[in-house]
Amino acid sequence: MTPDSDSLGIVVAHLSHAYAPTAGTGVRALDDVSLVVPPGSFHALLGPSGCGKSTLLYCIGGFLPVQSGSIRTARGVVTGPGPERGVVFQNFALFPWKTVRENVLYGIGKRGVRGAEARDRAQHFIDLVHLTGFEENFPGQLSGGMQQRAALARTLAAEPDILLMDEPFGALDAQTRRIMQEELLGIWRQTQKTVVFVTHDVAEAVYLADTISVMSARPGRISRSLAAGFNRDSDPAVFKRPAFTELVEQIWEMVRAEVDQARRPALAAPVVAPA
Ligand SMILES: Nc1ncnc2c1ncn2[C@@H]1O[C@H](COP(=O)(O)OP(=O)(O)O)[C@@H](O)[C@H]1O
Ligand SMILES: [Mg+2]
Repeated sequence: MTPDSDSLGIVVAHLSHAYAPTAGTGVRALDDVSLVVPPGSFHALLGPSGCGKSTLLYCIGGFLPVQSGSIRTARGVVTGPGPERGVVFQNFALFPWKTVRENVLYGIGKRGVRGAEARDRAQHFIDLVHLTGFEENFPGQLSGGMQQRAALARTLAAEPDILLMDEPFGALDAQTRRIMQEELLGIWRQTQKTVVFVTHDVAEAVYLADTISVMSARPGRISRSLAAGFNRDSDPAVFKRPAFTELVEQIWEMVRAEVDQARRPALAAPVVAPA
């Protein structure tokens, strides 16, 4: 194993983020968020729509600047995007003019690998996400589930230690989503990546994650973190286990309380003064 393929954890300390004002006032999206994601663990983020889940993920990804507080991985302080952090978006974000193979080769190119070795590696990741036989298809010729597999293969091909996933299965039908969840767990067990997974589906979070953080209504903070850990056993009937359904219900109550808070007009839309 090269040092590059070692798993890295994430430490977010007192992170705040406000979007610059477009007209008059800005939006304080994150307020004093602290979060520790141990190496190799699977962390799910839940919370009301607009509470800052994506903002937090993109700050960790380095796509948004850290305005106050800090984000660290084993590579040091995050100041921008880096090859050890890979992102999977809800809308797949594939290059439509490239085939599956070319999209995956793009991920491999980020590591500077070329030629026959790159092709072998591309095939490895295409096989890993079960797209064997679709190498020469363009994204527009694939179903939503297959496009998300291709996007996952492209991100995995860059061999990030940290996988940041923003509602990656949100656009998929229920059946495809279940299959993708199982496959993601299989890949996670196999590759031991550190995962931060944003979802609005409580059962999905409980099924996939070691730890679940519930974020408060905007400006987002971590209001609670709970251990789940059903991902550690491969029980296909886990969804029916009382402990599973009880935890889903318990977390759903927490999310619902935050959604209710978000709807209260007096607490809506805290603003920051224009810079
Ligand atoms: N580019 C942007 N400019 C201004 N405000 C934004 C921008 N992106 C998100 N926001 C605001 O920041 C808050 C958090 O957004 P987001 O992180 O997307 O929430 P979530 O992913 O939890 O739904 C929301 O109120 C949203 O409207
Ligand atoms: Mg979002």
